[in-house]
Amino acid sequence: MTTILNIGELVGIVPEGVLRKQGAEMSETGSIRDAWLRIADDGTILDFGSMNHYRPAADPADRLWPLRTGGAQGPQPDDNGAMVIDAEGGLLMPGFCDSHTHIVYAGSREGEFLDKIKGLSYEEIAARGGGILNSSDLLNATSEDELYSQSMERVEEMMAAGTTSLEIKSGYGLCPEGELKMLRVIKRIRESVPAVVRSTFLGAHAVGRGYTKEAYVQEMIDLMPKAAEYADFVDVFCDTGFFTPDDTARILEAGARYGLKPKIHANELGISGGVQVGVAHGALSVDHLEQTTDAEIEVLKGTETMPTMLPGSSFFLGLPYGRAGDFIKAGLGIALASDYNPGSSPMGDMRFVMALACIKMRLTPVQALNAVTLNGAFAMGISDTTGSVTRGKRADLLLTSPGWTLTRIPYAYRTPFIRSVFAGGRQV
Ligand code: NIG
Ligand code: FE
Repeated sequence: MTTILNIGELVGIVPEGVLRKQGAEMSETGSIRDAWLRIADDGTILDFGSMNHYRPAADPADRLWPLRTGGAQGPQPDDNGAMVIDAEGGLLMPGFCDSHTHIVYAGSREGEFLDKIKGLSYEEIAARGGGILNSSDLLNATSEDELYSQSMERVEEMMAAGTTSLEIKSGYGLCPEGELKMLRVIKRIRESVPAVVRSTFLGAHAVGRGYTKEAYVQEMIDLMPKAAEYADFVDVFCDTGFFTPDDTARILEAGARYGLKPKIHANELGISGGVQVGVAHGALSVDHLEQTTDAEIEVLKGTETMPTMLPGSSFFLGLPYGRAGDFIKAGLGIALASDYNPGSSPMGDMRFVMALACIKMRLTPVQALNAVTLNGAFAMGISDTTGSVTRGKRADLLLTSPGWTLTRIPYAYRTPFIRSVFAGGRQV
């Protein structure tokens, strides 16, 4: 058992059973000033409350993990021997839930960065055989162990930056062996980190070299039973120049036969029809949405699909930012994710995602918090077990240095602010 005392503000408190925030709820978060929080032996949140009502733990035997000393004081035993961390007035919030990443890749695309600076668009780079195909060549030439170690560096970086759950997509193999290699690496990551990892089969990320599109779509459909042994979800890049809504529907139907729920890439490069096909197939989320019209907002109303925006891609590619405010006004929730990948968002810092959402999309810090925590967890189908400060949920938490408020996190967006990150109750 571990108790965190003297928390300046505990935010992200959500009642049990609330799995996502929508519309006006996006602007609300439960909070307690001068709070404590206790983590149970099994890594879940046991209880929390105001310091005015704090009582030391009852069971002196309940000391748990050898916590690494984090702040000035480090963990100290309380009167009854339970481990106590003095937050010294720091803010405690849920860890970030990053529901859309492509962090399993080899090398980088620095060469294309120069093309981009010279003025080539994402589509122009892709049309020249660069882009995703470039990453695919590199990945297929890289050993599975090397791919794992390169990817793990990124996961470690994300956890240090406060991410406690993440989704990872395949999609740089672009042939059966390459896609399965990626899915095995994702599984190995899942088994080796304290963060929650969800796995998505994105075989239809681009047409693999040497295939016609028709043959490639069929190849991915044929791969579905094997992919489903590893993946939780199926995704398609349904966008201009990549896959059509018809291709997408065929792939999603194949995924559904093996229990894979869809998460869709839609409306990054054009109004693709991806939102509509995603919703029609019960997608958990439709992602990107840089170019949404009112029609897509209408289609999403009353569904179980989480619209997910990726402002890191808008920033890096110079695309429009998603219409987050219009979605919220229409009564919808939104999630925000990093899209960490080598081509359109080479960063996985969810605090910067929050900052972009506030600065560029005009979300309030509370709306941004809900979008990067509970709603991100919903977009991974795990908001019953993480994404908020709720008794019984995993203790996936981020403790700031003393003096930080929620608003200051996206405002002073480059000042170091993290003191400790807990994933499943363990300091990472
Ligand atoms: O989400 N849009 C498609 N996929 C990624 C980019 C992948 C890449 O360029 O390597 C994205 O932006
Ligand atoms: Fe993506």
